[in-house]
Amino acid sequence: MSPKRINPILFLFLIFLLFSCSSRNEKDGIRIGFSQAMVDDEWRQSMNNAMQLRASLYPNITLDISNANYDVQRQITQLRKFIADSVDIIIVSPIQSKPITPIVEEAMNSGIPVVLVDRKTDNEKYTVYVGADNIEVGRNAAKIIVSNIRDSLRVIEIKGLKGSSPAKERSLGFHQVIDKFGNIEFCGAIEGDWEKESVTESFREMLLRTGPVDYVFAHNDRMAKGAWEVARNLGIENNIKIIGVDGLNGPNGGIQLVKDGMLAATILYPTGGDEAIKTALGLLNNEDVPKNIILNTTVIDRFNAEIMQNQLNKINEHQTLLESQVSAIKRQEQLYYSQSNILKIILGFSLIILSLAIYSIYSKIAIVRKNRQLEITNRKITVQRNQIEKIANEVKESNEAKMNFFTGLSHEFKTPITLIMSSIESLREWDKKKGNKTGFEIELIQNNSNRLLRLINSLLDFRKVEDQKFNVRASKTNIYKFSNNIYKEFKGEAKKRGINFNISSNNEELDLFIDRNLMDKVYFNLLSNAFKFTPDNGRIDIEIHDNFEESSISIHFKDNGIGIPENELKNVFTPFFKGSNNRKNSSGVGLHLSKQFVELHLGKIEVKSHNGTEFIVTLFKGNTHFNEDQIVVDPEIVDSTLINFSEDITMDDTHIKLDTNTGEERYCILLIEDNRDLSFFLKNKLSVEYDIVLSDGTDGTELAFEHVPDVILCDVNLPVKNGFEICEILKNDLRTSHIPVIILTALGNKESFIKGLQSGADLYLTKPFNYSILTQSIKSLLYNREKLRYYYTNNIHKIDQVQSFRNPEQLFVRELNKQIKDNLDNAGFSVENLADALNISRVQLYRKVKAMLGISVSDYISNFRLENAKSMLETTDKSIAEIGYSTGFSSPNYFSTAFKSKYGVTPGAYKKSF
Ligand code: FRU
Repeated sequence: MSPKRINPILFLFLIFLLFSCSSRNEKDGIRIGFSQAMVDDEWRQSMNNAMQLRASLYPNITLDISNANYDVQRQITQLRKFIADSVDIIIVSPIQSKPITPIVEEAMNSGIPVVLVDRKTDNEKYTVYVGADNIEVGRNAAKIIVSNIRDSLRVIEIKGLKGSSPAKERSLGFHQVIDKFGNIEFCGAIEGDWEKESVTESFREMLLRTGPVDYVFAHNDRMAKGAWEVARNLGIENNIKIIGVDGLNGPNGGIQLVKDGMLAATILYPTGGDEAIKTALGLLNNEDVPKNIILNTTVIDRFNAEIMQNQLNKINEHQTLLESQVSAIKRQEQLYYSQSNILKIILGFSLIILSLAIYSIYSKIAIVRKNRQLEITNRKITVQRNQIEKIANEVKESNEAKMNFFTGLSHEFKTPITLIMSSIESLREWDKKKGNKTGFEIELIQNNSNRLLRLINSLLDFRKVEDQKFNVRASKTNIYKFSNNIYKEFKGEAKKRGINFNISSNNEELDLFIDRNLMDKVYFNLLSNAFKFTPDNGRIDIEIHDNFEESSISIHFKDNGIGIPENELKNVFTPFFKGSNNRKNSSGVGLHLSKQFVELHLGKIEVKSHNGTEFIVTLFKGNTHFNEDQIVVDPEIVDSTLINFSEDITMDDTHIKLDTNTGEERYCILLIEDNRDLSFFLKNKLSVEYDIVLSDGTDGTELAFEHVPDVILCDVNLPVKNGFEICEILKNDLRTSHIPVIILTALGNKESFIKGLQSGADLYLTKPFNYSILTQSIKSLLYNREKLRYYYTNNIHKIDQVQSFRNPEQLFVRELNKQIKDNLDNAGFSVENLADALNISRVQLYRKVKAMLGISVSDYISNFRLENAKSMLETTDKSIAEIGYSTGFSSPNYFSTAFKSKYGVTPGAYKKSF
């Protein structure tokens, strides 16, 4: 059996069945309804006991005894209820015949058999009568009197309840006999109700009225005893013989009354309780039962009372025994049922436990099987996953390789483009100087170089977006001016093609925080697209809407070009998308990049197409949507892509007043660049102002150490060591650590920039760089050096405490000062000695000190000595000669001359003035 088929509900149902079997189904048994006339007297109680005893022998019999308590109406109600309850059989002892007759008929009519006991109804419409023959009872009483007749006799009758059949029949039988005898004088009858209280008074009156009587026939022993009591009260009890009916055994019973001499005799009147139940069962078992079951009656007098009592005692004993046996059986039965129930419950639970055990074993087996299957599946999945992972890795690696190839290639492209663009710029400047108009070809080359550069940048950007390496650097920007600058870029093309190209804004003063570099690319992409797909003489609009009430603005780029098919609109921003109506060459990354860039601003970009295409860029106002580190006030990186090539340089250079062309000493620049064209180009341009030392990258550091130049320009991709490594070496060497280094690279990402900073580079220019920016940067660095030098020369004695120097410089100056200080009184301490002590050559020391401090080493030593001497003059009482010697001057004269030439006074005069 499948575990699924062992349903727990089914088990509960089984248990229910077990329980339901465990009690006797009373509905299947026999229900007997008995309406007893009353229960106060012992005769009735004896009848009830006999019935209960008999019924208890049959476990399927339910006997319901109702007490009518002398109340006819109540008896009728009880019988109605039995009918309504559809009992199996009704037994009734009618209080009176007449009123009970119709209800007995009703029961018969509804199909319920009726057994009359002791008393009858008025007709024959009953099933069986059980009881003694009451006429015979009356006759027997009369016969006792007749048998004792002498001359004459006087008799009184005490009757039972009028209307009850025994009273009627007993009287009838009695009179049938005594009326035949003329010498029996019937003195009268008293109407009783079967109880002695109903007759005592009237009996006394009758006795007093009639005078002495010989015999009294009372219809039952209770009334007979009452008559005796009356007679005794009158003192005539020995003169009257009283006959009763019932003959009950027991202390108050008729037999005892006979034995005690109160009654002359009693007529045995059996209750019929036992027979009534037997009859009922016989009827229900469809046995052949006679209509009237007449019970035997007999006379009990002083001759047989003893025997009768013994007999009846024996019967009582048997009955008691039987009763105890029956109750023992009942107890056993009860015990049996409860044990049987417990057994069934245990069986039920055992069955459940067994089934659950089977179920759990089966489940266990099923689980083991399932687990095994799962394991196999798992293993398969793992193998497949590994395969997929392997394939994915291979694909990734291959993609990576391709991307690296393209990225590398793109970087490679950048240097020649830089060259092309710089050369064109030179040509244009040349033409400008000569007053010539720039040729059409030159413009063509420049435009196409720009285009090429943008394409390459897009390719690199795509890679950067993929690697999530973009970091927004948002700065406050007037969005109208920003848009207008780009608008101007496209104006020429619009004019050429007759395109109605417009820009408008409802708030030209609006400032937004945008990454100009990224937004510039978004604009270029959207406008390039618009120009690509708008026919000549078409229309293109840039509209800036400041939604004054809202926290955002929207920029609309509308054209009336070929548009985008409706069903393709949702795909326009996916990488490499190409519209089905697009016949032009297209990389398919521009719109994708634009979306990414707008989203980096937490903005959104949407597209609509209806009579052309409309891109809507929505951006937030303010800067709260950016992190602090994304907001830039003054970008540190000079990124040439930020600068419009055709515009003049806007860098504020008014503070840089370096006249690098005059004087004999020119600044020296070491150019480390392996691209010969670029190297040649830069040398040509820069040599106008500077001395140039060229390195192809193989000997960059060596040349730096040798020449100790004023500025180093260094490419990144170099044959032996890369630019970062070279920079790091130079910055960590005493000889060159002070030299500003500009890194020139095509790697425009953040990591490269950080690498550059880590290597100690002072500036970082991405290719293609604008030549003017390069020269401005060089000048700016040299100017800063000048400022430093100025500071040094005026604060020589404080130099080794100045905290603002870079570590190597600080160390160098400290070491320099220490050496000079240690040899302060040593007049023979020369520049050579100092260079040796610092472990560098004399020339290197000279250049380093000159570059850093702007003076020669010997001047520096001399200044140092004089500063110390001056301080001694101020603070000590030493003589001039002593101070001269202790600060390394070979003679007091030499000291005085040197002091005077520096401070304008002799040491003596200085001391005095102090
Ligand atoms: C008991 C009794 C008996 C009598 C019988 C007649 O209630 O009064 O004494 O014989 O009823 O129905």
